[in-house]
Amino acid sequence: MKARILSPTPENIALAAAALRSGDIVGMPTETVYGLAGGVSLPLAVAKIFDVKERPTFDPLIVHVGSDSKTLESLSELRLVDLTGFKSSTRKRARALAQLLMDEFWPGPLTLVLPKHQDVPDIVTSGLATVGIRMPRHPIAQRLIDMTGMPLAAPSANRFGRISPTRAQDVDAELGDRINYILDGGRSDVGLESTVLAISPDAKLSVLRPGIISKTEIEEITGMPVDRPPASKSRRQSPRAPGMLESHYAPHKPLTLLPCPVLKLRKEDFKVPLKSDRLGVLLLSGDPAAARKHLAAVLGVENDRILVKTLSRTGDFQEIARHLFAELRALDASDVDWIVAEPCSVEVGLGHAIADRLKRASAGRS
Ligand code: TXA
Ligand code: MG
Repeated sequence: MKARILSPTPENIALAAAALRSGDIVGMPTETVYGLAGGVSLPLAVAKIFDVKERPTFDPLIVHVGSDSKTLESLSELRLVDLTGFKSSTRKRARALAQLLMDEFWPGPLTLVLPKHQDVPDIVTSGLATVGIRMPRHPIAQRLIDMTGMPLAAPSANRFGRISPTRAQDVDAELGDRINYILDGGRSDVGLESTVLAISPDAKLSVLRPGIISKTEIEEITGMPVDRPPASKSRRQSPRAPGMLESHYAPHKPLTLLPCPVLKLRKEDFKVPLKSDRLGVLLLSGDPAAARKHLAAVLGVENDRILVKTLSRTGDFQEIARHLFAELRALDASDVDWIVAEPCSVEVGLGHAIADRLKRASAGRS
């Protein structure tokens, strides 16, 4: 099987929608990362998603809804959410909170975890009593959902544990031999997966996965404190905060997180033995030529043994996020045999999400 990359013409979107209605799965662009979509009420299609990604069934999928489903009432009419799942004493507050967050952040990169309707197949939610829902902002994703006529369950379109795709070609590289269609919507604008926010039955908020919409922003909008979940440790953990596995987003090549920015590195800081012939460097910000020269001098090697990719010359966090997965993927595909990455020292706002992805990409690999 070789996937067809479809340009997003009305005919091609209709073709992808028809494939989805008949139970096939399709690579779908979104503003965060590309997803691997299947009809939410077609359990066999959802099973195919897990199969093709080699994803463990304890890791639940996010359901993507169309642009006319921006109220709790419409989500319950779609039989996705069951409002009686909120405790009666706090139901009013939980509903108001959920609605406020939808009004503010949808369509966009915020996934809300809400009590699930019994009709949502268990395979979508890994048997949990909750379901993650988001309304993507990408116009092609919106059109695809509308034309399919049902919400789409979609995880990121990468093999399990690997780097999320931000371009149609990345989906092709990950899954092109296993699926029929990839709808090309250009490069994902955000570049990191959505913020996942749980609204508990007693109307408490907790961020299960950091993203571009920060804890602080959510606290400001809601006037409520937002928890961060405890860090999880292993692949055998309970599915309370699934997807928060320590090792994730990993390249094939070894990736080590540096102790400080490249230009501050001294020889004694450099713990990576240069057993590699060629070293790949992921620079968060700054001038790649200067970083290469400094590293070559510190390590006492020729410049051409070092390949540097910079995520943003100016250090703009949105730009860093947008380029992170694509450049990591480019280094992985290059002829370097070891990758080092600058750490992200700002652990609030978008910096928290970037630091989170870098730590997971390097976990257990150095
Ligand atoms: O931006 C995104 O969210 C992308 C695009 C395609 O929309 N999707 C994505 O899906 O990142 P995925 O499957 O790679 O990550 C989904 C994560 C799960 O691993 C889990 O952490 C969380 O969302 N999640 C989904 N449903 C949940 C639930 N009911 N309870 C707790 N966490 C849930
Ligand atoms: Mg993923």
